Amino acid sequence: MMGKKMEEALNGQVNAELYSSYLYLSMSAYFESLNLRGFANWMRVQAQEEAVHAMKIYDHIIERGGRVILPPVEAPPSEWASPLAVFEQVYGHEQKVTGLINDLVDLATGENDHATKSFLQWFVDEQVEEEASANEVLQKLKRVGEAPDRLFIIDRELAERE
Ligand SMILES: [Fe+2]
Ligand SMILES: [Fe+2]
Repeated sequence: MMGKKMEEALNGQVNAELYSSYLYLSMSAYFESLNLRGFANWMRVQAQEEAVHAMKIYDHIIERGGRVILPPVEAPPSEWASPLAVFEQVYGHEQKVTGLINDLVDLATGENDHATKSFLQWFVDEQVEEEASANEVLQKLKRVGEAPDRLFIIDRELAERE
């Protein structure tokens, strides 16, 4: 059985992961509106991964005898200035989520909740990948600059993600 504080914090993370999913789905819809279907695909896959993250935490709360509570998920933005602006936000958002995961690990450590600490290790490792993959696309977009044709090359690459 986990402590109340840990349970509340993990419930907060379920909401944060669902928001990430919602945000990336909104970004996917934005790319669809620009006819950038590879970018839209990348975001759609990302949105599904975030929903999986939410469910992993959801299951952990229940497994440990906690209670899952689902408050509203904030509405994401629906418009961005450019594909570059989208990926700047993705990279910043993933860095923020890494901070949230680190705070959860600190709490689990403080609460002597070794099971949650061990569970969270997967998320610590996952965030390294999440930041790296967002930054990879961001750096590519920064190089597009005056050569808009490159945007379509990146779009074709991102269509490969499954
Ligand atoms: Fe996540
Ligand atoms: Fe993420």
